[in-house]
Amino acid sequence: MDVFEITGPTSLDGTVRVNGSKNASLPIMAASILAPGNSKITNVPHLADISVCNELLTSLGCKVTRGDNGDISIDSSVVDNPVGEYEIVRKMRASICILGPLLARYRKAKVSMPGGCAIGYRPVDIHLRGLRELGTQIEIENGYIVAEAPKGLVGKEIFLGGPFGSTVLGTANVLMAATLAKGITVIESAACEPEITDLANCLRKMGAKIKGTGSPRLVIKGVRQLKPVEYSVIPDRIEAGTFMVAAAITSGKLHIENCRLDDLMAVVDLLRNIGVTVEKNSDGCVVTRTEPIRTAQITTQPYPGFPTDLQAQFMALLSLAKGNSVVIEKVFPDRFMHVAELSRMAADLRKEGSTIIVSGVNELKAAPVMASDLRASAALVLAAMAAEGTTVINRVYHIDRGYERIEQRLNPAGAKILRKSE
Ligand code: EPZ
Repeated sequence: MDVFEITGPTSLDGTVRVNGSKNASLPIMAASILAPGNSKITNVPHLADISVCNELLTSLGCKVTRGDNGDISIDSSVVDNPVGEYEIVRKMRASICILGPLLARYRKAKVSMPGGCAIGYRPVDIHLRGLRELGTQIEIENGYIVAEAPKGLVGKEIFLGGPFGSTVLGTANVLMAATLAKGITVIESAACEPEITDLANCLRKMGAKIKGTGSPRLVIKGVRQLKPVEYSVIPDRIEAGTFMVAAAITSGKLHIENCRLDDLMAVVDLLRNIGVTVEKNSDGCVVTRTEPIRTAQITTQPYPGFPTDLQAQFMALLSLAKGNSVVIEKVFPDRFMHVAELSRMAADLRKEGSTIIVSGVNELKAAPVMASDLRASAALVLAAMAAEGTTVINRVYHIDRGYERIEQRLNPAGAKILRKSE
C-alpha cells in the first residue's frame, strides 16, 4: 500500500500536461461492444480504473491489448459471456455501462449491481428505468441485474431526469442501447457532460444517428449495425481543474497544457472571482495567484454547472480564503469524506446537512491523513502542498484510480511528493 509524504508549503512553478479523460474513456471502451471487430481507442490514461475496464471487457470475451504508445485495441468480434461479474464490478462502479451495449447487441445481459460507494448512495434505478422503456425485461437476482429483450430494443420517448437532475452513466447506457434499437428514441433530461458529448461523437463515427449532442434532448435513430472505430478521447477536465487549484493553493504559476477551457467555464469563472488569474493560450492556459484568496459560494450541479468532482479540491482552496465561504453539494449530498481529513490539517469546516461553511484560516498544518475516494484524496494532496510541514497520506491507491502518477507530474513544477510503499 503506497503512501505519500508531502512537504509544504511549496509554490508550484512549471508546466503540467493533462491526460485523456478517465470518465470519457470508460463508456467509450464499453461502446466497442456494440460493433463486432477491432476498435482502437487512443489518448486513454494509464489508470487503475482503465485496467479494470480492460479486465471487464476481457471477461466478456473481447481481446484487449494496450500498445507501448498507450493505444487500446479492443477486438469485440466474439462476446460470448455477456456477464459483468461481481468480482470486477465491485472494483469499479462504471462497469455498469456495459449493460446498454450488451443488451443492444445480444438482447441479454447479466451485470452485477454496483455496491456501496464512499461518496454516498448511488442507485442505478434510472439506468434500469430507461432500458425498460426500450423494451427490456429486468429482474434483480443474487445481486445481479438480469436483463433481456428477446424481441430486440424498440425506440421510445424517455424522460431520464432524477432527484438530482440528469445521470451521466445512465444517459450513456440508454444512449448506447438506443443506437441499435428499432425506430427513434428521444432522451429528455439527458446529461450534457463533455464526456457524453465525446461518447456521442464516437458513436456517430461508428455509424450511429444521433442529434442534440450537448443538449438535454437527444434524438437517436436506431440503425441495423455499427462498425468498429478508431477514436481519441478528450482531455480530462477534472484533472485540468485539479491542476488549476494546485497552482492557486500554492500561490504558484502553472502552464496547463492540453486543457480545454470550454469544458471548464463554471470553474474558470469561480477561480477568477476568488482572485486567481487564468490566461487562455493556444493549448490550454496559465494559472497564477498572487493575491489573497477571496471567499465564494459553490453549489455543485450537473454540467454546465460547477462539477461535483472538483468540490473537494475547491474546499481545500477556500479553507485558506480571507473569510467565510459556503459549499453546497447538490449532486452527491453526502460527498464529504474529505471534511474530517482537512479538519485534521487545521481547516475550519462546519457541516450543516449538504452544506459546508468554510471559515478561512491563515495556514493549514501537516498531519497524517487518510484517502477515502478519488477526489477527496486529490484535495488532500493539494492541501498538503500548501500546509506547513510533512503530511502523510495513506491509501494512495484511491488517487491512482484517477490521476496517473501525480507525483511525477507535479514534482518537476516544485512539489515535494514522495511515494513510499508500506
Ligand atoms: C459520473 O458518475 C462520474 N463517473 C462521476 O465521477 C461524477 O461524479 C458523476 O458522473 C456526476 O458528475 C464516471 O463518469 C465514471 P450520475 P455517475 O449518475 O454517472 C443519482 C469521479 O470522481 N442517480 O450522474 O455514476 C446519483 O445517486 C466520479 O471521477 C440516481 O438517483 O453519476 C447522484 O446523486 C465520481 N439514480 C446523481 O444522480 C440513477 O440511476 C448523479 O449521478 C443514477 C444516478
